[in-house]
Amino acid sequence: MFARVPFRQPVKPSPLLVGPFRPLFNQSATKTVISNNFADLSRIYEDGVNLCLIERRLPPTIEQFVYQALQDAGSIEISQPIDPIKFDFGRLWPKAAQLPGYQDWLADVEMLVSAFCELFDRREAGLRLRTLENAMCPRFHIDRVPARMICSYGGIGTEWLPEYALNRRKLGIGGCGLPDAESGLITDATAIRQMPAYAVSLMKGENWEGNEGHGLVHRSPKPTAVQPRRLLLTLDMM
Ligand SMILES: [Fe+2]
Repeated sequence: MFARVPFRQPVKPSPLLVGPFRPLFNQSATKTVISNNFADLSRIYEDGVNLCLIERRLPPTIEQFVYQALQDAGSIEISQPIDPIKFDFGRLWPKAAQLPGYQDWLADVEMLVSAFCELFDRREAGLRLRTLENAMCPRFHIDRVPARMICSYGGIGTEWLPEYALNRRKLGIGGCGLPDAESGLITDATAIRQMPAYAVSLMKGENWEGNEGHGLVHRSPKPTAVQPRRLLLTLDMM
């Protein structure tokens, strides 16, 4: 799927990070890759890239399936390790199995799990699949993982902040419990971005070697009256 096996993360830390002086927040070091070429997911291995966002249009059968499933198939909450070679994807959402487009949607989920495992040279991925009516993580935050893939099937997508529009010192306890809009974390509210529905995003977190202090800052979107639910897939390294 990817043109070549991605290179490994560097074993040695950058010389910039071992001396007595260490830059705390080097804004220029943080970049995002926005593309419609799926192979660009491998650019997550580039130093300084903390988000690869691949925009895509899926066949109408999948969009119709998701729309119908969010209306008629109730809730789903799955969290389990999955080996894409051995797992029977047909069992993923039994309540939605009768809806047209189920197999097409499953094929997309299977493709994403396989791509994730290939990209990170893993046998299994930690899959979470949930229907959401509320903002799960409503405040901007970073994830303490190496990397996480996320895809919102339907509904509205995850929000993120570009580096120039945030003050990382206000993350977590630095925000003194104030809402994002008041803590000083957001320095340019017009810069808040939203991942489009069906886009595939690969976010680099704080536990990626060399990315400490640069994890992608993101939050769950607030559901709206028009789009009250979403179907969210996340994949983590095992
Ligand atoms: Fe998160």
